[in-house]
Amino acid sequence: MRIQSIEQLFMFEVAKMLDAEHFVASGLQMMAREVGHNGLKNALVRHQAQTEEQIKHLNKIFEAYGLEPQRIPSKTFHTLNLEYQDLLLSLGEPEFKELATALAAEKAEHYEIAAYRGLLTLAQELGKPDFVDLLKINLGQKQRMAKAMEECAAKLIPANV
Ligand SMILES: [Fe+2]
Repeated sequence: MRIQSIEQLFMFEVAKMLDAEHFVASGLQMMAREVGHNGLKNALVRHQAQTEEQIKHLNKIFEAYGLEPQRIPSKTFHTLNLEYQDLLLSLGEPEFKELATALAAEKAEHYEIAAYRGLLTLAQELGKPDFVDLLKINLGQKQRMAKAMEECAAKLIPANV
């Protein structure tokens, strides 16, 4: 895609985010399997279901233009996943696994929050209130998830370190 307008820039970014969300949906499933702590597991499973909804919201933006949803590979999320795998392999103490998972999830959410803020700016500039509403739902869920991960991480600090 050669970007020559704000609208094309917006759609390029939506296509990147759509890929990221698909990646996150499978990543959250994997993370939820990795952890035993109930609060963390539940938050990851809940957010996985929300991510499926978020994918539908992004698909609606394509549909509004009469387009099939398009994904442009997100190198950022691919790399965040590699960083997480790297971290798991580097853990000498399994007791840190859940803490590391909560921190990795929090990092991903903060990137998503920044990306959605950018999408909202573009949707507002384009005068697309329907898109703004959909993007705000996704952003709100991510902000709550980032907070939940931050709280989980604080609780997962082992008492004896
Ligand atoms: Fe998310």
